Amino acid sequence: VSTSLPETTHEELHVHQHSHVATDGASDDPIDAATFRQVIGNLASGVTVITSRFADTDYGMTASSVTSLSMEPPMMLVCINNAVPTSRAIKEIGRYGVSILRQAQEDVAYNFAVPRDDKFRGIGIRRSSTGIPMIDGALAQIECDVVEEVIGGTHTIFLGQVVSATASEGPPLTYFRGGFGRFEFATNDAVYHRARTLILDRVYGASAVIGVDELADRLDVDRTAAFYALTRLAADGLVRRDPTLGHVVSPFDVRVSDETFDARLAIELGAIGMVTGHVAADALAELRCRFEVMSSYLVADQFTSFTDYLDANFRFHEYLVGLAGNALLTSTFRRLSIKSVMTRSFGSTSATSSRFIDVQRALVEAMETADRAAAELAARDYCELAKARTRQILALTGGTL
Ligand SMILES: Cc1cc2nc3c(=O)[nH]c(=O)nc-3n(C[C@H](O)[C@H](O)[C@H](O)COP(=O)(O)O)c2cc1C
Repeated sequence: VSTSLPETTHEELHVHQHSHVATDGASDDPIDAATFRQVIGNLASGVTVITSRFADTDYGMTASSVTSLSMEPPMMLVCINNAVPTSRAIKEIGRYGVSILRQAQEDVAYNFAVPRDDKFRGIGIRRSSTGIPMIDGALAQIECDVVEEVIGGTHTIFLGQVVSATASEGPPLTYFRGGFGRFEFATNDAVYHRARTLILDRVYGASAVIGVDELADRLDVDRTAAFYALTRLAADGLVRRDPTLGHVVSPFDVRVSDETFDARLAIELGAIGMVTGHVAADALAELRCRFEVMSSYLVADQFTSFTDYLDANFRFHEYLVGLAGNALLTSTFRRLSIKSVMTRSFGSTSATSSRFIDVQRALVEAMETADRAAAELAARDYCELAKARTRQILALTGGTL
């Protein structure tokens, strides 16, 4: 194991650093850290936990600056801030593990992204033959011997020779613009949208059982894509997983609609009551901005794009609730399946009413003028409008969708 840093490395790196060329009249000012962070956040990546072990202590940290380097020999590199204890451990022991996290391991990513002494408490690990802790259930696990260290800014780049590597099936956790998300194959996404249309168009009616093979045959796609579509439809609340029947189309009726919109109203009234008059100007500006984005998707009693409206509407109301600064309130709001309910009702036709925009504009204006009574009234109006519109749509379909 070689952990020594070749003396030439610093100089070599500096030689390449002066190639700062301004083109097309761009400013020659150096980019500040905040701007760079924001710009580079556009590079979507996977998420890993880099681990090591030194002096009977396990070390681990969340990292996305990880990449493959060469295939022959198999090598990879990781970039770690010198201030992080894991960096020191790797320097000492000359070995590290990389656990590539799967989609369901967002909590693990958070756990290892905050400095703490007991990071491994409650985390399942497997030990490599050399004793490095690897995260249990990760999508892939790779162990490396350090062959070179390169200093870059505040970080050290550890070039590692791969000594073991295993992978399993499943979707990865991803990181983009400062948030975790999921990866999907473009073809699978298209299959999901086609399957969703089958439910919204009632080709599969309420309580219909959808078999994976049957859906795959109908859409002429493979089983994996059909299963992926059903999993996403279950997350949307459009189907539920029954232990004996399989995937069943969730019935949607007036009761489901009323209860969901009333629950949202209760949460929003709570938030409005807590914050009206105390909202900072930049937060009000953000609320207004989200409203404007939403309103661009509903023009002259028509959705110009229902899915975009749905996303923007959710983001607007989520922000309103978030103003209360109460994580429980926000997570309760997120669990309401509001998107599913709106999809089942409003999503079945592009015709809608501009009054939805009018009442939500009234809500923004009331928040801006710190008029609590007007804000509460607008929230109630919006709720009644949504419930009435769902009734109208359901009346056309015999009461259930
Ligand atoms: C998604 C994500 C990716 C990260 N990538 C890196 C990285 O590549 N290199 C790094 O030094 N820190 C990275 N960090 C920050 C470290 O995880 C964080 O500083 C951590 O607290 C360091 O470990 P410590 O708690 O032992 O100091 C990342 C954080 C997140 C959330």
